[in-house]
Amino acid sequence: PFAVSCFQKLHKPDRTMAISHCSASTKLAWILALLLILVTTTIQVHCQSPPGFISIDCGFTNTSAYNDSITGIQFDPDSRFVEGGLSNKISAEFIAGSDEQQKTLRSFPNGSRNCYTLPSTTGTKYMLRATFTYGNYDGLNKTRDGSLFLFGLHIGVNFWEAVNMTNWDPSSTIWKEIITVAPANSVSVCLINFGSGTPFVSALELRPLQDLMYPFVNTSVSISYFRRIRFGAATDFITRFSLDPYDRFWEGWPFTYPWIPLNTSSRVRRLPGDNTFQVPEGILQGATTLDTNYSFLEISVGVGPNLDAKNLQLLPIFHFAEINSSNPSRRFDIYSNDELLFADFSPSRFQADSMHQNGRFLHNPTATFRLSKTRRSRLPPLINAFELYSLVRMDNLTTDSDDVNYIKEVTKHYNLARINWNGDPCSPREYSWEGLTCDYSKSNQNPRIVAVNLSTSGLKGGLVISFMNMVSLENLDLSHNNLTGAIPDYQIKSLKVLDLSYNQLDGPIPDSILQRSQAGLLDLRLEGNPICSKVKDTYCSNKKKKTSTVLIAVIVPVVLVSLLVVMGILWKLYWKGKSGDDEDYAMYEEETPLHIDIRRFTYAELKLITNNFQSIIGKGGFGIVYHGTLENGDEVAVKVLMETSIAESTDFLPEVQTLSKVHHKNLVTLQGYCQNKKCLALVYDFMPRGNLQQLLKGGDDYSLTWEQRLYIALDAAQGPNFNYVFTFKSCTYVCIHKV
Ligand SMILES: *[C@@H]1O[C@H](CO)[C@@H](O)[C@H](O)[C@H]1NC(C)=O
Ligand SMILES: *[C@@H]1O[C@H](CO)[C@@H](O)[C@H](O)[C@H]1NC(C)=O
Ligand SMILES: *[C@@H]1O[C@H](CO)[C@@H](O)[C@H](O)[C@H]1NC(C)=O
Ligand SMILES: *[C@@H]1O[C@H](CO)[C@@H](O)[C@H](O)[C@H]1NC(C)=O
Ligand SMILES: *[C@@H]1O[C@H](CO)[C@@H](O)[C@H](O)[C@H]1NC(C)=O
Ligand SMILES: *[C@@H]1O[C@H](CO)[C@@H](O)[C@H](O)[C@H]1NC(C)=O
Ligand SMILES: *[C@@H]1O[C@H](CO)[C@@H](O)[C@H](O)[C@H]1NC(C)=O
Ligand SMILES: *[C@@H]1O[C@H](CO)[C@@H](O)[C@H](O)[C@H]1NC(C)=O
Repeated sequence: PFAVSCFQKLHKPDRTMAISHCSASTKLAWILALLLILVTTTIQVHCQSPPGFISIDCGFTNTSAYNDSITGIQFDPDSRFVEGGLSNKISAEFIAGSDEQQKTLRSFPNGSRNCYTLPSTTGTKYMLRATFTYGNYDGLNKTRDGSLFLFGLHIGVNFWEAVNMTNWDPSSTIWKEIITVAPANSVSVCLINFGSGTPFVSALELRPLQDLMYPFVNTSVSISYFRRIRFGAATDFITRFSLDPYDRFWEGWPFTYPWIPLNTSSRVRRLPGDNTFQVPEGILQGATTLDTNYSFLEISVGVGPNLDAKNLQLLPIFHFAEINSSNPSRRFDIYSNDELLFADFSPSRFQADSMHQNGRFLHNPTATFRLSKTRRSRLPPLINAFELYSLVRMDNLTTDSDDVNYIKEVTKHYNLARINWNGDPCSPREYSWEGLTCDYSKSNQNPRIVAVNLSTSGLKGGLVISFMNMVSLENLDLSHNNLTGAIPDYQIKSLKVLDLSYNQLDGPIPDSILQRSQAGLLDLRLEGNPICSKVKDTYCSNKKKKTSTVLIAVIVPVVLVSLLVVMGILWKLYWKGKSGDDEDYAMYEEETPLHIDIRRFTYAELKLITNNFQSIIGKGGFGIVYHGTLENGDEVAVKVLMETSIAESTDFLPEVQTLSKVHHKNLVTLQGYCQNKKCLALVYDFMPRGNLQQLLKGGDDYSLTWEQRLYIALDAAQGPNFNYVFTFKSCTYVCIHKV
């Protein structure tokens, strides 16, 4: 069987390795091992590039592709996949030790977002890898000049990760990997300029995975590579294709005492149907354990400086297979930091077990994982392989794919090269294409293009039909270009403004457009085109002037009418207010005064003292009683007759006349009255304890003793005249404070 691990000199970037129970010489030992490999391993392998692999050597200027001398994978020049940017070579001093793909790169000094677009199959799962080797290509020593050297990566329209090259060894390579689902027939990778150095990329590799793999990855969740380790005595720093048919990078794990490598040549199988991770058998045949007097094994993947440990969400996957041929007792607990993930696990003999929590992401800022021997176990833990990913949310939606295709047709047709027209047209919002207006209002739907402004863009040739296929397009401005020919017969539906002014358009205006324009559904502008030498319609006259006359003709009358209306309303309000009082006043004058020496109130005065009849304190036989306060602060009870009873109220005047004359300590004092067509009311002293009826009934606050009740009866009996008992009843504001 043909199984080869292809060696590549790549240095791991942001994550640092830390191994518990290991001496500090680990690193040195590993470096020595690496050097040995460098010297001894120059195996030339010819591997076939499997179907679906897309491998791009960025900045490579040869016109034809080449096969990588180590992996045999075919690498293409990048010109087909990107627009803009500059091709660069790394500095001569670093060329010799570099992989072929790392020798050139493409840098993007212009534009805030520059994207590579790789063809894909919609809905397919991919692993995408980007590698970066600075190699002092610009001679500026950017990684070593002490300043921040940082740029961002987007996967499609979502933020993936930052690439931090600050203080980085210029010959070393950073790699980033993501496992993602293609949202459309292309996957784009964008480099984002953060203003801290020119973004660049050395190589891009797209590898299709099987749909069953990494089942927790879907259109809204991607996972970014954090660490992928193969244990055991691997001779290569990186194991990749063709041992791993998916070309994942598996890093070797250095081992020194008490870590002990195990290896087997026996088969290590997966259970039939277990296709979730497809760890290569060659990797599962190696494992690492500890000396028997140690009890736990810790994998600590330091979180590098450019990762936000606090918000990091990690997903670990542990791969185990017992490869000790005797049947040992080996059981252990698996922890993430201090959280127990799996208790009392025992690896199966020569069979792969992949342990993960169904796509659950963990908060583990130190990225530390521990395998801890249980009491029943005779042997310490073992591990064969380990994968660790961080969550990448794919919340932002791409622009509607039809809109994207049509606007790309436009770009192609007019050979438009705009720095900013890169990547998705509308998303993310802050990188949307200049001149486009998008509709983001439906948060669960893809953004749509609603306006395109390509005014003064040097467009030449005929009017491309793609615009009219964009069903959400409402406003199209193609003015001040060099468009020629006739206007095609579009069946436009959504378009409301079509500005074609100052072009070279000729020929008849198609009916479909003319009809919509005449129906007022389309604002068509054609002035400054040869077509207008034949037609003298509104759309051919200088709209600005026309608009202003139309505006004057429409706006002036509207404003005048509005002014008149407003003035009328104000006038009416003013006089209504006045007449209200006046009416009252007039009636006050007109009615015969009663010639009594109590105060006569106007309706307006009653309104004022009762604070617009706000507080009702009782309901009498023929009206409602309100609480009020006179100008001098005295509290009063205002009994207002119901409007229906005004006319019938024949008793009113006699009552007022009598009461005004009667003054008795046991009767409430009538302070005044109001009498006109609008108002019939009596104003009495206010009795704060309520009315007699309530008091006699008894309540929570005031309960009368039988003695008090007797006095009240006596007081009532001492009323001046039984004729007035009715006043008593209806008024019922009896003076009891003397009781
Ligand atoms: C690129 O072209 C040059 C000159 O044609 C050639 O020498 C070189 O080997 C080519 N590089 C690759 C990787 O094919
Ligand atoms: C770049 O850095 C190296 C090492 O720090 C130094 O030797 C070299 O002179 C620097 N070159 C420039 C152009 O600054
Ligand atoms: C989505 O887009 C918004 C603004 O357009 C941006 O702030 C946010 O970071 C994006 N989300 C992701 C996951 O990239
Ligand atoms: C994607 O997977 C996550 C869990 O891994 C789940 O919560 C989410 O609903 C899934 N989304 C879709 C669109 O299937
Ligand atoms: C384990 O045993 C070895 C000798 O076999 C010894 O050197 C080492 O110190 C022991 N470690 C512990 C933790 O007991
Ligand atoms: C980038 O890396 C440098 C050096 O490791 C570090 O000081 C800096 O904080 C990092 N910046 C970011 C934004 O991660
Ligand atoms: C289109 O852009 C030009 C400037 O580039 C501007 O003058 C014009 O008003 C824009 N048109 C619309 C409809 O916004
Ligand atoms: C339009 O094209 C004509 C002839 O092809 C040319 O003379 C003119 O300068 C062009 N105008 C613009 C604005 O490009």
